[in-house]
Amino acid sequence: MGIKKEIEKRKTFAIISHPDAGKTTLTEKLLLYSGAIQIAGAVKSNKIKKTATSDFMEIERQRGISVSTSVLSFNYKGYIINLLDTPGHKDFAEDTYRTLTAVDSVILVIDSVKGVEEQTRKLMEVCRMRNYPVIVFINKLDREGKEPIELLDEIEKELNIKVRPLTWPVGMGSRFKGVYNIYKSTFNFFKSGKTVVEEEVTTFKDLSDPDIDKAIGHNEAMALRDDIELIDTIYENFKLESYLNGDIAPVFFGSAVNNFGVKELLDTFVEIAPCPGPREATCGLVEPSTEKFSGFVFKIHANIDPRHRDRIAFFRVCSGKFERNKFYHHVRLGRDIKFPNPANFMAQDKSIIEEAFPGDVIGLYDSGIFKIGDTLTEGEAFMYKGVPRFSPEHFCEVQNTDPFKSKQLEKGLMQLTDEGLAQLFLQNPGNRRILGVVGTLQFDVIKYRLLHEFGANCKFSPINGYKAVWVKFKNPKDIEDLTTYRYHSLFYDKNNNLVFIPESKFILQLAKEKNPQAEFLENMEHNDETLELEAS
Ligand code: G4P
Repeated sequence: MGIKKEIEKRKTFAIISHPDAGKTTLTEKLLLYSGAIQIAGAVKSNKIKKTATSDFMEIERQRGISVSTSVLSFNYKGYIINLLDTPGHKDFAEDTYRTLTAVDSVILVIDSVKGVEEQTRKLMEVCRMRNYPVIVFINKLDREGKEPIELLDEIEKELNIKVRPLTWPVGMGSRFKGVYNIYKSTFNFFKSGKTVVEEEVTTFKDLSDPDIDKAIGHNEAMALRDDIELIDTIYENFKLESYLNGDIAPVFFGSAVNNFGVKELLDTFVEIAPCPGPREATCGLVEPSTEKFSGFVFKIHANIDPRHRDRIAFFRVCSGKFERNKFYHHVRLGRDIKFPNPANFMAQDKSIIEEAFPGDVIGLYDSGIFKIGDTLTEGEAFMYKGVPRFSPEHFCEVQNTDPFKSKQLEKGLMQLTDEGLAQLFLQNPGNRRILGVVGTLQFDVIKYRLLHEFGANCKFSPINGYKAVWVKFKNPKDIEDLTTYRYHSLFYDKNNNLVFIPESKFILQLAKEKNPQAEFLENMEHNDETLELEAS
C-alpha cells in the first residue's frame, strides 16, 4: 500500500478533560466498540485519587512501564486509531501539554453536572494555540445536570470556541430519554447500564414526523422541536472545513458509563477527524507524504520497576516510513542509530513492529540518548518545533545527604529532567541545583524515584520563586542591571540558557523595566536551545 493510503487510514488523537469528567470511561467504551477489549473494567484509571503520592506510585507499579495505557492503537471501520492518553492529575499537566503536540485532533469530555472546569480551560488553551479540531462530548446525561443550552453557552464563552450541536438530548437524569441526531433525523433511545456494543436507533422522516411523538411522548417531542428550532437559529450550520480549521466544535451528548452516545461519537469521529497533517520544523512545513522518514520524541517514560531500568521514548512518526533496524539520524547528537525493538501499542499489548507510518506513535527503547523534542530523520538536519517547556512555578534546592552517592544523584537528576519530570537550574555550576516543577506532586515523585531507581538520598528545600523565565540578550550590557543586582536569582538551565527566577511578579516587572534590551520568555520550546547552539 502506498504511503498516502496509509496516512488516510490513520487518526491520531487525545481525549482531554478535567479529572472525573469521564475520560477513562469513554476510552474504555471506545475500545469496546473497536473489539480491542471484550469486557468493561479492563482499562485502569490513571487518575490519582486524593493526590497521595503513594497512590501514584502504586498505580505506576501496577501498570508496569505505563505504556499500555499511554498509547492505545485500535482498528475501527478500516481505520487505525491512535489514542494518546494523558495524565489525569493537574500536577502532571505539562506531560499532557507535551502529549498534545503529537496528536492531530482532540475529543473534549465535559461533565454535564459541572460544566467547564479549571483543567478544561487550560487544556483547551493549548488546543486553541495549535488550532486543533475539537469534538465535544457532554457526558453524564443520566444525571441531573445543567441545561444543555447553558452548557453550550459556557463552552463558547469560557473556551473561546464556537460550537454546533449535532445531537440533542431529550430530558436528563431520571427523565433522560435519549438523543436526537439533528442531521440524520434519528433517535437514539437511552438504556442504562449498557455494556453491549449496539445502540438502539430509530430513523424518522424529519422532525415533524408524528412517530416521534409516539416514540418519546407528545410533550417531549414538542419541546424537542422548539429546541431544535432555537438551535438552528443560534448556531451556524456544521461545516467540515470550520471544524478542521479549529473554528467550530461539533457537540455530542451521552453517558459514557452507560455506553450511550459513544458509537455515534466514534462513527462521526472516524468520518470527520483529520488524518495526519503537515508539521512545522526548522526547515518549514514537513508533509507527511514526504518520502523520507522523520518524527520526534514527545514523551519519555522510565520504568519504575527496579528490575527493568530501561526507558521508553514515545516517538511520533511525522513523515515517510519508519523501518525496524534501519539507521536513522539523531539530529541533536549528529549520530546515526538503528532500533531493533521498536514497539507499538495495540490496546493492552506491546509488540515489536517492522514499520510505522505518519500518525503512528512508536516506543523506542532508550538507554539515555533521547530528550524531549529530539528529532530523527534520514540524514537531514532539521528539528521539529513546538514541544513546549513551561515555566515552572515551584522550586526546591536539592541537597545531597549522602556524599558517597553524589554521582548517583547527578545521574538521577539528569535522567529525570531529560524525561521532563522537572527542570534543572544550576548556579555556579555544581554548587546550587534547583529543581523547578509545574505541580508540587512531582517533587514527591522525583524524590521517590531518585531513591528507588538511583539509590540517591537527598533533601529538597523549598525556595521562593515566582516563576522561571528565560533571558535572551545580544550583548552582556543588555543585562547589566540583572547581573549586578539580581545575580542571586540567575541560573543556567541544562542547555546553558540564562534563567531568571524572581521572587515575585513585581521583581520580574522591575527587571523587565531595568533591562529593556533583554527578552524575558515564559515558555520555551524543547529545541530552542539546540537551535541557538547550531546558529551560533
Ligand atoms: P476521568 O478519567 O475523566 O478522571 O473519569 P472516569 O472515567 O474515571 O470517571 C469518573 C467517575 O465518573 C467514575 O465514577 C465514573 O464511573 C463516572 N462516570 C463516567 N461516565 C459517567 C456517566 O455517563 N454517568 C455517570 N453517572 N457517571 C459517569 P467513580 O465513582 O469515580 O468511579 P467508579 O467507582 O465508578 O469506577
